[in-house]
Amino acid sequence: MKDTFGREITYIRISLTDKCNLRCRYCMPEEGVCLKDHSEMMSEDEFVQAAEVAASLGVHKIRLTGGEPLVKKNVIDICSRISKIEGINDIGITTNGLLLPEMGKDLVKAGVTRTNISLDTLKKDKFEYISRRPAPRDLLCGVKAALDAGFKKVKVNAVLIGGVNDDEIEDLAALTLEYPIDVRFIELMPMYDSGDFGPEAYLDSDIVLKKLKLDPVEDDGTVAKRYRLEGAKGEIGLISAVSKSFCATCNRIRLTADGFLKPCLHSSQEISIKGMDKEKVREKMIECILAKPPCHPDLSFEHRSGSERNMNRIGG
Ligand code: GTP
Ligand code: 5AD
Ligand code: SF4
Repeated sequence: MKDTFGREITYIRISLTDKCNLRCRYCMPEEGVCLKDHSEMMSEDEFVQAAEVAASLGVHKIRLTGGEPLVKKNVIDICSRISKIEGINDIGITTNGLLLPEMGKDLVKAGVTRTNISLDTLKKDKFEYISRRPAPRDLLCGVKAALDAGFKKVKVNAVLIGGVNDDEIEDLAALTLEYPIDVRFIELMPMYDSGDFGPEAYLDSDIVLKKLKLDPVEDDGTVAKRYRLEGAKGEIGLISAVSKSFCATCNRIRLTADGFLKPCLHSSQEISIKGMDKEKVREKMIECILAKPPCHPDLSFEHRSGSERNMNRIGG
C-alpha cells in the first residue's frame, strides 16, 4: 500500500524484545530496560498476526530487531511461522551476533535469509567500553557463524564513533576483502536519552570516503550508499542517517515489542495494536502507513530524535 506521499510500503521492522545481552552506549542506558509487565508485551501470536496483516497490505520484507532478537525465547518459532506467510519473501534479522554460533543454523532452517551483525570494533577493550559488557573470545564469532550457517546475505553494521573507532575504518572495511560480507558504516543518531556519547563522537560518513579508495556501486534502494574496495568479496555501505536523509524513498513501518506501530523512526507518533483482533490491527496499520510524515526534522545533538524511545526500544 502507498502512503500519502506516494511511497510504497513494503518493509516492516519488528522489534521482538527491548532486552539485550549488551549495553551499547549509543543504544541503551547502563541499567538496562524499564521492565514492563509481560502482559503488556506482544505475544508470539500477536507478532505473527501483525506480520500477516502487513503482508496483506503489500509488505514483503520483514526485519526482526531488538534489543537483541536472539535473547527472545521463542524467536525460532516466530521466524518459522512468519516465513510461511504468503507474500513474505525476505526475512532478515539484525543482531549483535553473540548467539549466532548456537542459533545461526536453526534461524536459517526457520526461514531467515539474511542477517545484519552489529560490530563497531575489532578490538576487545573497545568492544567492552562501547558495549559495557565482556567481549567474546573471538569478536568475529557472529560473522563466522553466520557464514557457516548459510545465510544468503551477511552484513556488518559499524556505528561510527569519533575518538573511539575512527582509527579502525580501514580494518573494518578490510573484512570485505577476507569474507563475502558487506560492511556498513552508520552515522551516530542522537536518540532520546542514550546520550553517552556527546557531539564530539558524531562523524560524518564522508570520513570513510576520505580514508578509503572506493568504487561506487549502483544504488539498490536500501538505506546505504554502496561502494566496493578493489578485489573485495563484499561491499562497503554508508548509512548517512544524520548528514543526509533517505526519507524520500522510505518504504518501512515499525512495530515495537510493546505493541506500538511507528510511522517513522524519529517521530513520537505511536499507534497501539496490543490486544487487538486482526481486523482492528489492519485498520491501525493502514492508519500508521497513512500517518507517515514526509521526512523527519534535521537531527543534531541539540535537536535529538523526536522518538521518545532509545534505540533498543525501537530496533533501529
Ligand atoms: P537491510 O535489509 O540490509 O537493508 O537492513 P537495514 O539497513 O534496513 O537494517 P539494519 O537493522 O541493519 O539497520 C542499519 C541502520 O540503518 C541502523 O542504524 C538503523 O537505525 C538505520 N535505519 C534503518 N531504517 C532506517 C530509517 O528508516 N531511517 C533512518 N534514519 N535510519 C534507519
Ligand atoms: N545511531 C546509529 N545506529 C544505531 N544503532 C543502535 N543505536 C544507534 C544509534 N544511536 C544500530 C545498531 C544496530 C542497528 C539496529 O542500529 O548498531 O546495528
Ligand atoms: Fe544491544 Fe544492539 Fe543495542 Fe548494542 S546496539 S545494546 S547490541 S540492541
